[in-house]
Parts: sequence; C-alpha cells; structure tokens
Amino acid sequence: MTQSQTLLEVRDLTVHFTLRKAGLLGKEAKVYAVDGVSFDVKRGSAYGIVGESGCGKSTTALALANLLAPTGGKILLNGKSMTSNSRKEMKEVSKGLQMIFQDPYSSLDPRQRVEDIIAKPMRQLTRMNDKEIADRVDELIKKVGLRPEQKTLFPHQFSGGQRQRIGIARALAVHPDLVICDEPVSALDVAIQAQVINLLKQLQKEMGLTYVFISHDLAVVQRLCDALSVMYLGRVVEQGNRSEVFSRPLHPYTYALLTADPVKDPTRRGSVKRLRLEGDPPSPINPPSGCHFHTRCPYAQDICRSESPQLRDVGRGQHVACHFVKMVDGQPVSPVSI
Ligand SMILES: Nc1ncnc2c1ncn2[C@@H]1O[C@H](COP(=O)(O)OP(=O)(O)OP(=O)(O)O)[C@@H](O)[C@H]1O
Ligand SMILES: [Mg+2]
Repeated sequence: MTQSQTLLEVRDLTVHFTLRKAGLLGKEAKVYAVDGVSFDVKRGSAYGIVGESGCGKSTTALALANLLAPTGGKILLNGKSMTSNSRKEMKEVSKGLQMIFQDPYSSLDPRQRVEDIIAKPMRQLTRMNDKEIADRVDELIKKVGLRPEQKTLFPHQFSGGQRQRIGIARALAVHPDLVICDEPVSALDVAIQAQVINLLKQLQKEMGLTYVFISHDLAVVQRLCDALSVMYLGRVVEQGNRSEVFSRPLHPYTYALLTADPVKDPTRRGSVKRLRLEGDPPSPINPPSGCHFHTRCPYAQDICRSESPQLRDVGRGQHVACHFVKMVDGQPVSPVSI
C-alpha cells in the first residue's frame, strides 16, 4: 500500500478553556487559546509553529499529542482520527506519536535511572521483552550522543543539553512517526541549542522522522523547518513553505517578527523596512473583534476592526489572513511594502 504524503492533518482545531472568575459569583470567562487552526504536515518533514508567548502554541501541541481534549476540530494522523474512543486504537495512535518538552529538568522523573526513563514507553506501549528493551536502550543512548555507561545515572547528573538528549531518546524509543517538539531548545544556551538542533536534524534523516516543532524563535525554525504556521492569539495569520515565508513575509505580524532583530539577519540589514511591534498581545479571554492583530497593526482600517480575515491562498503554497495583502501582477504584496 502506498502511504499518503500527508502524515498529519489538522482541521479547524479549537481549544477553549472555561475560567471561573473569582469574586464574580460563578461568572465564567472563556480563553480562546486555539481558535480554528488548520495545517498539514508532510511525512518526513519538519513543520514549525511560531508566535509570541500565549498565542496557543503549547495548547496546540498538547491537543496534537492527545494530552488535552480539543473543544472542536479534527486531527488525523496517518488518516486516522486521534479522538477515537477505543483504548486499543488509542494505544496504536500513541505509539505513532511522541513529544519532547521544553524543560529537560521537569520532564524527566528525577528518581529514575536514564535506562528506565528511556525504557518506559517500550514497556507501556510494546510487547518487547527485557533483552530487546535493554538492547534498544543501548542503541538509543548511542544515537543521541551519550556514553553507554551513563545509562545508570539519574537526570540530575547531566547537563541541560544532555537531559534534552535523554528526552529525545525516550521519544524515539517506540519508533514514532511524528515527534512533537515544544520549545525543545529554549531552555538551553545558544551553543547547546545548535548541537541539539543538529542532532534532531540528523535523527530525522536517519529515521525518517516527521516533526512538529514549536518555537518563539524564528531563527531556530528557519534552521530546521520546511514549512510553518505563524500564530497570533489562537489563530494562524500566515503559513507556507520556509522559503516563501522567510523571503516574502506578507502578514504585518510575520513581517514584524522577521524584522524584530535585524542584526541577527545581516542580509536584511539596511535594505528592509523594520516594523516594530508596540506592547504585548491582547488577552485571549477577550480577543479584539475582527482581525485579532488590528490593535497593534499600523495598517489597520475599519474593515480590520469588524471583519475577521480568512486565510487565503496567494500562490506557491503560501496562505495569509490579512485584508490588505493585494495581488499585483499575479504576485502577493504585503501592506508593509506598499
Ligand atoms: N489549562 C488552561 N486553563 C486556562 N487557560 C489556559 C490553560 N492553558 C493555557 N491557557 C491559556 O491559553 C493561552 C495559550 O497558552 P499556551 O500555553 O498555548 O501559549 P504558548 O504560545 O505556548 O506560550 P509560551 O510561548 O509562553 O509557551 C494563554 O493565554 C494561556 O494563559
Ligand atoms: Mg508554550
């Protein structure tokens, strides 16, 4: 049977949290953490999700990893729904999908030896015997660049980068198709970040892995990801292949993120207009009407306050949700460059 090119399909994913406001006699407030997010991830690729703190990246990751029940929408892995009720089916789905967390300090059980941490998903999700598990632990320890004798140590005996390597070995133990990485390098020093990203890239090549890679750091996403979505207050404002989004950002928010620190990107220095964002994103409890970004967008007009722009296809796989991205001679043009 030929496998479909798309490994993960996310359609209109919604996660709303209900908060009971203190002192208001039971009055409820809704947090629109993820509000209608759709994207496809190709088998063997790395897909980035970027955006400022609070835009819904981790909530999306938790819903994808089945660690949180979505309010609405569909998630299909290998064409199979991830919201099945059958335990057997869910076990199969869990095997195909593993997660690497941001904090290598809190995501590893401090009382367990590394060999047991890495063995755990194999014990829970497979029928491998002790010898097979032990052999696989040895293989994984080598694969992630740790020394075989380190397997009997506890997490506190490792550096931050090494702990993240343990987290990676644990995630890969059961041969997942999809690995969801939520800010896996944000807690690490820049030099160590580069090592871990290189390791993830190498493992992807060796094992044919597919990643959903979440980060607030565009430079990291640019190094690793083939395609990406940019999120703002629970919604996708722009998505496309890396080459398109990085070379022709269209949404003013993407543009602002990309030009936020021009010194980091010398090719852009001097030649590109900088768009500086003022303030923080508004609260997802009471998101602004229309386009969520209008309160911070220098190009906003009346329509942006009243109508929410839909994500639309502007060619070469790029999609953008902005009323003022115009087509000129068949090419999309950002309001920033008009
Ligand atoms: N369990 C919860 N109950 C209520 N609100 C929540 C819950 N989890 C997340 N939120 C809210 O949902 C919004 C999105 O949170 P999320 O953690 O997904 O953001 P994020 O993009 O991962 O941010 P960061 O970059 O800081 O990790 C935030 O406003 C957050 O406060
Ligand atoms: Mg997060």
